[in-house]
Amino acid sequence: MATERIQEIEKEGKKAFPEAGSEEELRELEVRYFGRKSELTGILKGLKDLSADEKREVGPAVQGVRMALMEAFSSAKERVAREGRDWEAERIDVTAPGANDPLGHLHPISLIIGELGDIFTRLGFEIPEGPELETEFYNFEALNFPADHPARDMQDTFWIDSEGLDTRYVLRTHTSPVQIRYMETHTPPFRIIVPGRTFRNESTDATHEHTFHQFESLVVGEAGDLTVGHFKQLGETFFEAFFGRKVSVRLRPSYFPFVEPGFEFDISCVFCGGNGCSSCKGVGWIEVGGAGMVQQKVFEAAGYPRGQYQGFAWGFGLERLAMMKYRIPDTRMFMSGDLRFIRQF
Ligand code: DAH
Repeated sequence: MATERIQEIEKEGKKAFPEAGSEEELRELEVRYFGRKSELTGILKGLKDLSADEKREVGPAVQGVRMALMEAFSSAKERVAREGRDWEAERIDVTAPGANDPLGHLHPISLIIGELGDIFTRLGFEIPEGPELETEFYNFEALNFPADHPARDMQDTFWIDSEGLDTRYVLRTHTSPVQIRYMETHTPPFRIIVPGRTFRNESTDATHEHTFHQFESLVVGEAGDLTVGHFKQLGETFFEAFFGRKVSVRLRPSYFPFVEPGFEFDISCVFCGGNGCSSCKGVGWIEVGGAGMVQQKVFEAAGYPRGQYQGFAWGFGLERLAMMKYRIPDTRMFMSGDLRFIRQF
């Protein structure tokens, strides 16, 4: 009797599971066939009251049906899950263009500093750094700007409140103080460039900014080794590598306390090649900075004996070079923090 009922249960179950259309129906069937109060469980529980012969017959039969229905249940579960998926929503368009993860951009001044590094390390230069917050000694005194000398008025200075300190501090007005710092710990011959941030207390316009960058160069050898001709040549070599075209250098006499003789350093206009255009205001030359042969007083301030060494130095404005290279019309763009500007590089 029990075995007949077991076979009926099997038949019913094998029909019910494939017909189940939802997870909910499946849960009901699970309870009906495998639950604690299900018929199969009831029969299993009743086995202990049967005779040994009956046990041998009913036991395996009920287990076999249970296994078969379990299988039917699990394939029904898979089928319902599959049918329940929204294939349209899950569709992946393999032809769609990829998402564009935006990359950062290097600031044009950083790009220029990187290029300077490439060009000058190839020429055997070192690239030391110095502090942006400088003492009066390194920014002025050691560079032969005597205290209360009118030459200090050449550079509008941000003086830092230094009350109670043993020295007065400034935001460095140029990269020249690094000349002194480097010479204090090195013996010639050597050649360095120093790109860095500088500050002037002045009102801003299209060609002036209170925070800007310079790059200093200093080349020192034994007395008699280096002449003005050397730095003119080095300047031409650098500018031609930097602009990728023929560039001529012109020196005009000028005054800086830390050089003698001192020069304004002009290059032939990189836009018109020297013929005259609106960028060079028709003169064919563009001023890029100051230069000269190092004053012996500067060597002395750095601890070198007077007369033993000779060298040249220059200080160029990086913004000026970047403006020429990338045709940037206004120097205030560099510090504007405007992402639309930065993203163009
Ligand atoms: N430090 C000067 C300035 O900012 C520029 C300069 C002139 C640097 C002559 C030099 C130099 O090294 O030799 O105005």
